[in-house]
Amino acid sequence: MKRLCLSRFFLTVFFCTSLTAGVFAQDIILPAPLKQGGKPLMQALNERQSTRTFTGDELSLQQLSDLLWAAWGINRPSEKKRTAPSARNIQEIDIYVTFQKGLFVYDAQNHILKQVHDRDIRSLTGTQDFVGKAPLNLVYVADMAKMNKKEGDPVADSELLWSYANCGFIAQNVYLYCASENLGCVVRGLIPKDKLAPEMGLRSNQIILLAQTVGVPQK
Ligand SMILES: Cc1cc2nc3c(=O)[nH]c(=O)nc-3n(C[C@H](O)[C@H](O)[C@H](O)COP(=O)(O)O)c2cc1C
Repeated sequence: MKRLCLSRFFLTVFFCTSLTAGVFAQDIILPAPLKQGGKPLMQALNERQSTRTFTGDELSLQQLSDLLWAAWGINRPSEKKRTAPSARNIQEIDIYVTFQKGLFVYDAQNHILKQVHDRDIRSLTGTQDFVGKAPLNLVYVADMAKMNKKEGDPVADSELLWSYANCGFIAQNVYLYCASENLGCVVRGLIPKDKLAPEMGLRSNQIILLAQTVGVPQK
């Protein structure tokens, strides 16, 4: 009897693990990030700036991989810790990525982009014209379920202070990566959140904080 229960337990764990780790055809499997090279930090800081004019060029898959790893990837796998700090290490920020081919969410543990849907909602991530034309927009979302907020619970602005701070570190990582890679970006607070949240399929306890447009700068 005991043995039967144990094997059932292992079967359940195996099944659940394969479900959570499941990769689907629409997901984007990112190549391993390149963790060497780039511009020296002081040069990247000197070149950091906001860009609002972009060519129509896409980022390469390697650039996308490096961008997301720099932003909020795992840099100490044994502790599951990240390239940006996080208050009490709660790691409640999720990065959603809007492309022409749809909406994806970054799974840092597996370093893949999981597709949420296949609609182009880039223009809904902001109010400025360049937003819908740039190759991608990152949308930073605080998953307040990790702060014990249930769906329907009110979330006061004051309860988001740490999440905004956490998000700022991630956005600065993106700025520095872009400066290092001769890409352009701008972090944005002007977001029609009431329109965007339902288009992203967010729960009421998932709060949009900021967005960041990334692309190849028009010289
Ligand atoms: C919290 C925050 C929100 C911002 N929101 C927007 C925005 O909605 N649209 C925009 O074009 N720039 C936005 N910016 C970028 C600022 O306008 C920009 O950082 C500032 O003009 C200084 O330029 P620099 O980043 O090139 O130094 C935002 C910056 C921050 C930190």
